[in-house]
Amino acid sequence: MEQLIETLRTQRDLSDEELTALITRESDDKDLFAAADAVRREHYGTDVFLRGLIEFTNVCQNDCYYCGIRKSNAQAQRYRLTQEQILHSCENGYRMGFRTFVLQGGEDPRNTDAWVCSMVDKIKTAHPDCAVTLSIGEQSRASYQAYFEAGADRYLLRHETASDAHYRRLHPKEMSLANRKRCLFDLKEIGYQVGAGFMVGSPWQTPKELVADLRFLQELQPDMIGIGPFIPHHETPFADKQPGTLELTLRMLSILRLLFPYVLLPATTALGTISPIGRELGLKAGANVMMPNLTPTDARKHYDLYDNKICMDEEAAKCRLCQEGRVRSVGYQIVSDRGDVRR
Ligand code: SAM
Ligand code: FES
Repeated sequence: MEQLIETLRTQRDLSDEELTALITRESDDKDLFAAADAVRREHYGTDVFLRGLIEFTNVCQNDCYYCGIRKSNAQAQRYRLTQEQILHSCENGYRMGFRTFVLQGGEDPRNTDAWVCSMVDKIKTAHPDCAVTLSIGEQSRASYQAYFEAGADRYLLRHETASDAHYRRLHPKEMSLANRKRCLFDLKEIGYQVGAGFMVGSPWQTPKELVADLRFLQELQPDMIGIGPFIPHHETPFADKQPGTLELTLRMLSILRLLFPYVLLPATTALGTISPIGRELGLKAGANVMMPNLTPTDARKHYDLYDNKICMDEEAAKCRLCQEGRVRSVGYQIVSDRGDVRR
């Protein structure tokens, strides 16, 4: 196993069989975490980048089986932040040192090109030294082009799973992996810094699907990779499914760091939800990004993707401080910087 980790570190690749052996091994992962942390330190030192997350709408026309804000969840209390509220959240975040804002939301029909472009333009005009990341799902190439021209820098769109058959079990028939991939390649060609990713432990996922995810990421070569455990939401068809584990999520973070040494890799809220020190362990396993929540708290509690999501009530300033403490406790430090990829 030691040899496998060394090969992964030096060659940045392994065969499918070797990746499967690493993903399914019985031993603990101290050696893997140490190798991933060393690679992370080579590229990013002890820096941790912050992204101020603004969950600006939970209205969604999609019906992904795993997601708490899917359109069929009639219990969800829907909200939309106004442009003024979003700008106010950015203002607040800027004063706290954030230099990247992530605008995330459901696929809301209010997100017309004109609306999104004017939002991006207002943020970039108010804060020209900040990066704007959009995460608003699958759109046409023309829309992605329009947002980019309005000033958007980055785009997050998890591919969710790179297996066609698995994708169909997680999504209704109106959605396809082919379109998801089309979106990601369009975004790359347009010039965005692009993030893909997947849930760890989603229903029916096996090591084979995880290896397919790694192969797809090698093909796409994204700048950011978002992974976190699947966690069930009680009002979805997956209410009774098992959540993903801390162990496997940490292991996948380390494998990703070794395969993609330069990548921006967040220690996600979902990881902090399945373990009180999940995000700290994520940093030690190779993650180098944290995403404190800037969404106004009265809206935030309705951005309910899965059960028991953390940070639902904390004011933005408190969340920022909390995360700073967590980062410091494991020997890293937050930097107030756009935090672009260092390829
Ligand atoms: N609509 C955009 C999209 O589809 O990319 C952004 C919002 S979507 C809610 C953001 C991410 O939340 C998804 O990519 C998915 O991986 C994650 N997510 C949704 N439901 C989840 C669950 N039950 N457990 C863990 N992660 C979940
Ligand atoms: Fe949000 Fe601790 S990270 S309150």
